[in-house]
Amino acid sequence: SAAEKGGHDYFMLKEIEEQPEALANTLRGHFDHGRIVLDEQRIADQDLRDVDKVFVVACGTAYHSGLIAKYAIEHWTRLPVEVELASEFRYRDPVLDRDTLVVAISQSGETADTLEAVRHARGQKARVLAICNTNGAQIPRESDAVLYTHAGPEVGVAATKTFTSQIAANYLVGLALAQARGTKYPDEVAREFAELEAMPAAVQKALSTVDHVRKLGREMADSKAVLFLGRHVGFPVALEGALKLKELAYMHAEGFAAGELKHGPIALIESGLPVVVVMPSPKGRGVLHAKLVSNISEIQARGARTIVIAEEGDDTVRPFADELVEVPAVPTLLQPLVSSVPLQVLAAEIARTRGYDVDKPRNLAKSVTVE
Ligand code: AGP
Repeated sequence: SAAEKGGHDYFMLKEIEEQPEALANTLRGHFDHGRIVLDEQRIADQDLRDVDKVFVVACGTAYHSGLIAKYAIEHWTRLPVEVELASEFRYRDPVLDRDTLVVAISQSGETADTLEAVRHARGQKARVLAICNTNGAQIPRESDAVLYTHAGPEVGVAATKTFTSQIAANYLVGLALAQARGTKYPDEVAREFAELEAMPAAVQKALSTVDHVRKLGREMADSKAVLFLGRHVGFPVALEGALKLKELAYMHAEGFAAGELKHGPIALIESGLPVVVVMPSPKGRGVLHAKLVSNISEIQARGARTIVIAEEGDDTVRPFADELVEVPAVPTLLQPLVSSVPLQVLAAEIARTRGYDVDKPRNLAKSVTVE
């Protein structure tokens, strides 16, 4: 009923709007007097100190949350982090031992490929930490420890609030590792620690873009294809934006690392092609910002229609943005939590305008229990 859907015509929009609350639930209980607490019973600080390498394994959207985690965890801890599709991981003979931490991310906790990756890792004596949204599911049951995202049930097949909750849970793992092992960047980590707690409010502000983005979605519904560009943590955000559009709107969509443009994708740019660009903050990593501005000016010069997701007050990007969607300023590593929101709304609205069932896209199941 419309009431169940929070007054919307589909669950996905309700779930997008629930993200501040879902995030608060993911974070709740893990901050204690300036320290991160994961799960005292099952992961001791000593275990975290012994880790010498991290693998993240997952599928689909959960995999994209892992790609984001890599930027944060490597920077904060100086531990090498490899992110791998669960379906590739165990067939590749990865190098694992008891000092390897494997983070298995799964909303459902029942995804067959991720479960098999967990079994493979444990068979090689690695420690496995599950990040999961479903209490008592198979993946957490078979893991050494679990961090539940507590995002609440997600009805839409497309992951939205569980994606941002997974990102937040990954940050908790990264901060816990940094705390147990020490960090090269104590001031930065302290700031990100503090701002992570404030992210539900920032995501609430990002939701003020919904009406504008829905209008853009309606205008873009007849496009043949949409490209998504980003750099640094904006790159996995671009991949996720493209996945959402494929799965919901059955539209050709691809995400690229903006630095790769000249190595091939720029050949796709033609008049009228919508290109969504996820801008980094002009303050945090200014060099990357300047490079992206130059990418946008090039694609705009070739006739593309640029839809730019940028930090509020980022005026340098304005001349190159045919459409500008402003999200709140937050530390660079936390940006995916706010910049993902408009991309979710965009995919849902394009799908709705094209007349598709936003909550139940064709050929897809909410959890994939066969390999
Ligand atoms: C997300 O929109 C997709 N429906 C899909 O990629 C999903 O994230 C993937 O199947 C993994 O599911 P899981 O998190 O339940 O393991």
